[in-house]
Amino acid sequence: MTQDLTTSVRIQVQRGTTSSECKLTTFDVPYHSGMSLLDALIWVRANVDASLAIRYSCTNANTCKECLVRVDDKTVYACTYRLTEAGATVYPLKNKPLVADLVSDIIPPKEKLSHLLPD
Ligand code: FES
Repeated sequence: MTQDLTTSVRIQVQRGTTSSECKLTTFDVPYHSGMSLLDALIWVRANVDASLAIRYSCTNANTCKECLVRVDDKTVYACTYRLTEAGATVYPLKNKPLVADLVSDIIPPKEKLSHLLPD
């Protein structure tokens, strides 16, 4: 099956860190039916801006839970969220500390290495 990659989809992504001003950046990404938001973000990193901070591990198995982001104020897994031609505006989780761009600190406090170190 060949896919028509002539259509593009526009995604807006919050960029920034806790020490810099966050702002939306727009990317036009080749679109094909059924593509995930993670597919689009990986394409941006590979083809437009390698500095875009995203996190994922299982790439579609929905097991690692590392790709959590917000779209339309709903928390979604980027690897299972299906883009439409309408595009999406993507933000990091709002209830977790921001690391950079779409990456939030999601490690439970008791699992952090610093928790194991003596005071
Ligand atoms: S990449 Fe693992 S749950 Fe999304």
